[in-house]
Amino acid sequence: MTAQVTELFKNIWDNYLEVTPSAEKIHNILGSGSDVINDHVAYRTFNHEKVNIEKLSQHLIALGYKECGEYHFEAKKLYAKHFEHENTELPKVFISQLLTEEFSEEAQAIMNKVVDAIDPALVATPEFLFSGKTWDISYEEYKTLLAESEYAAWLSAWGYRANHFTVSINHLANYTDIVAVNDSLKDSGFELNASGGEVKGNEEVKLEQSSTIADKHAVEFSDQTVEIPSCFYEFAKRYPLDCGNLYTGFVAASADKIFESTNAAA
Ligand code: NI
Repeated sequence: MTAQVTELFKNIWDNYLEVTPSAEKIHNILGSGSDVINDHVAYRTFNHEKVNIEKLSQHLIALGYKECGEYHFEAKKLYAKHFEHENTELPKVFISQLLTEEFSEEAQAIMNKVVDAIDPALVATPEFLFSGKTWDISYEEYKTLLAESEYAAWLSAWGYRANHFTVSINHLANYTDIVAVNDSLKDSGFELNASGGEVKGNEEVKLEQSSTIADKHAVEFSDQTVEIPSCFYEFAKRYPLDCGNLYTGFVAASADKIFESTNAAA
């Protein structure tokens, strides 16, 4: 089963690199290769029953993953769950879904059009997790969504692919401190997401996180091709619980700010 999980994440990673070339450069800055372990991979979806968290997570559960925590993001109108594998070297998976009914009729019509165009046979296969955009959406429709939800716009433009991967700082050979990681990235010219401060969380909540600002990559909309924010890279340092095991959950207040890594620069 581990070989199948490794194969799945290799496909998800290759699909992510296609639109996030900075991720490979960051690997080379932070580690020598084998010490770069991913803490988690994150997905975005709609709460529509055709493509909701259950539909994405079925492919992880089939490979031995278990549902672990749930999270609410009221301002962004999101709900999320995270999944873990008993092999702690395999990435956790964080899947959020947009509460589509909380948006305008106009936005809902665009989101429904997107969901309607998705082939249920594709959703039923693990390939769905790296299938990208399999529908048509115009740049106008993208901008209509963007005015209400950056999340909805990103998902409609990029489709089903990792929104980000996350380096586990705990596993890096040359770093133990998130500020040192951030400094190395900035010295190499990468821009970090400063929303809520560059470091989200602290030892008290058992998790520190930072992230780059998303790369920009061209999207073929139905009417024109436009460069928009694609995916980003996150960095996480986990602290031990009283029992000695590392904390494995997520911190909603920090994740709330990490979502903003795909916002277009002001
Ligand atoms: Ni994350």
